[in-house]
Amino acid sequence: MPDLQRSFKIKFNDFMKAGDVSVKIQGILKTIGFDPDLIRRVSVCAYESEMNVVMHGGDGDVLLTVDPKNITVHVRDDGPGIENTELAFQEGYSTATHEHREMGFGAGMGLPNIKKSADAVEVNSEKGQGTHLKISFNVE
Ligand SMILES: Nc1ncnc2c1ncn2[C@@H]1O[C@H](COP(=O)(O)OP(=O)(O)OP(=O)(O)O)[C@@H](O)[C@H]1O
Ligand SMILES: [Mg+2]
Repeated sequence: MPDLQRSFKIKFNDFMKAGDVSVKIQGILKTIGFDPDLIRRVSVCAYESEMNVVMHGGDGDVLLTVDPKNITVHVRDDGPGIENTELAFQEGYSTATHEHREMGFGAGMGLPNIKKSADAVEVNSEKGQGTHLKISFNVE
């Protein structure tokens, strides 16, 4: 059993609440007292994956688990999935709409930043199947 486990819902296209989950995760990790740089890296990954669910995915959820050796963030959605995950992780690749770009999104840097900030990233997605990202961090 992990020492701590929390789950959160994400709603597709809900830009009013977008970002709330990553703020909550940041708060939990601060309360536990993790190193600020580790918290910053987890927050970047949580935020970028949360925004991707809101913009490109579908309704979804986030599961945060913390144990003495690892922090893990599982992000799932029941959206359209990613046809080519290798392409999606390339810097600058984006299918963001005009509206998303007007809000300042769509640089195609979210997934590359997740990859850089995490210790390990696993993606499971197929077209029409939804998306699951498992993002892991070593503690210490
Ligand atoms: N949960 C998801 N469901 C479906 N497609 C996704 C999902 N997450 C990412 N993608 C696809 O991968 C692309 C790249 O994602 P990435 O986060 O790197 O860039 P972006 O969201 O388009 O722009 P930015 O994050 O810089 O604002 C997206 O444009 C989208 O096509
Ligand atoms: Mg993104």
